[in-house]
Amino acid sequence: MLITIDNVLSDDELGTVHSLIQQSQWASGQLTAGIQAAQVKNNQQLPEDAPHLPALRHLVLNALQRSPLFFTAALPLKILPPFFNRYSGASNTYGFHTDNAMRLVPQQPGTYVRSDVSATLFLSKPQDYDGGVLTIEDTFGTHGVKLQAGSLVVYPSSSIHAVTPVTRGERIACFLFLQSMVRDPGQRRLLYDMDMALLKLRGELGETPPVVQLTGTYHNLLRRWAES
Ligand code: NI
Repeated sequence: MLITIDNVLSDDELGTVHSLIQQSQWASGQLTAGIQAAQVKNNQQLPEDAPHLPALRHLVLNALQRSPLFFTAALPLKILPPFFNRYSGASNTYGFHTDNAMRLVPQQPGTYVRSDVSATLFLSKPQDYDGGVLTIEDTFGTHGVKLQAGSLVVYPSSSIHAVTPVTRGERIACFLFLQSMVRDPGQRRLLYDMDMALLKLRGELGETPPVVQLTGTYHNLLRRWAES
């Protein structure tokens, strides 16, 4: 299931992100890739010791916290600190790969987060670069994703995905992994569909007894499936 969420970052926040990134030095993207992924990964990334990385991470996590849609789509339990990458020039692509299932938490040796959900927050305007399409394969085929600056796509970490070569300009993005309260993507999907339908029903009908009852069913399913 792919879910896109628009305007996760405000224009002001986007401005701050770009100004902090402009003051930063890029390093090789090989830093966070697993063995298979490293063979097809050719981009750049902000290193863990980049001075502005904590501020950038804080800004993005803060924005995600404001988004009820992100919460219901991902049901985040533990979010790994977000990473920032750039595709441009000769470092411009990431071939088909799968994300590592278990990821070390930066600066916390021996602590792992299971990646259930991956997300990409687009930071560059789509008209400022050619290519750079996030291509995700799922059971319904291949999807190409290229969003407005400040918009986010959420997808299962279990999918095979790639970023097509950037042939003009630069594509800067933030990507993150999280462990979901609900491990199974099928169960997450059911909960998301139900929650979105409930939102509409509540808008159309108000808190009628059946709406309250269905809301209870949503929470009881979450109670049954969620780990904390
Ligand atoms: Ni990936």
